[in-house]
Amino acid sequence: MTDQVAFDIDKRSHVPVLIFDEPSELARQAARQVRTLIEAKAAAGARAILGLPTGSTPIGVYQELVRMHREDGLDFSNVVTFNIDEYVPMQPDSLQSYHRFMHENLFDHINVPEGNIHIPRGDLPPEAMDQHAAEYERAIQSAGGLDLLLLGIGRSGHIGFNEPGSTPEDRTRLIVLDEITRKDAASDFFEEKYVPREAITMGVGTILDARELILLATGSAKAAIVARAVEGPITSMVSASAIQLHPNCKVIVDEEAAAELQGRHYYDFVFANEPEWSAYR
Ligand code: PGA
Repeated sequence: MTDQVAFDIDKRSHVPVLIFDEPSELARQAARQVRTLIEAKAAAGARAILGLPTGSTPIGVYQELVRMHREDGLDFSNVVTFNIDEYVPMQPDSLQSYHRFMHENLFDHINVPEGNIHIPRGDLPPEAMDQHAAEYERAIQSAGGLDLLLLGIGRSGHIGFNEPGSTPEDRTRLIVLDEITRKDAASDFFEEKYVPREAITMGVGTILDARELILLATGSAKAAIVARAVEGPITSMVSASAIQLHPNCKVIVDEEAAAELQGRHYYDFVFANEPEWSAYR
């Protein structure tokens, strides 16, 4: 390949998608990207500001980060975290709370300083939520903004809990959960009727302000919504489609979640020709 035709990822025609055979490979790839950022920031004497999701999808990524900490000594002392969302109402020690999820799956097993951890609160009285949401936005800004934000995607098309109707102008706020989201959460709450009706979430605008996005999806239940998010029209009815507006976004999926994508040849070409990615093939 000559220099003139060398692949230039900035001239891409789609959001780049990395497709892995197995969820475990996807988890390793995403964790490597987090590690690269943490180490680069540490080498520069700076902090790494991470945005983190909950749900079943990122669990493998967190397991891999814990392994990197234990076995390779990956140091999280320069890391600052902001979680994307939390149910409302929700006590932090409840079984289904994202505070509890994050501590059990990641924070209790690494050396991120407790004071560097930020998770939106679901335990405040309703009249305090607007102020808390505004303070959460300010905390992200005063940390210097998010360097890297990992995202899951729900079958409603949400990123964070930005349900259909959310727009790129939206900031951290209270939102009413979509019916699909409440159905998908029913098993965590034993019955759908116990799933909270609301949540606090970073807005699509907050998400788009991150300097880098990585959206993760696994399993056949996500195939249709992944295709709509990545290849469908950008629409507030599929909040995740807003990632198409982001200049530095990657989508990392397994074969099952990739099944309905039309642009497979393009993604495979990018994967094979983008040095940072092809190293993992
Ligand atoms: P899941 O949730 O990882 O449990 O599928 C993703 C989401 O709803 O954002």
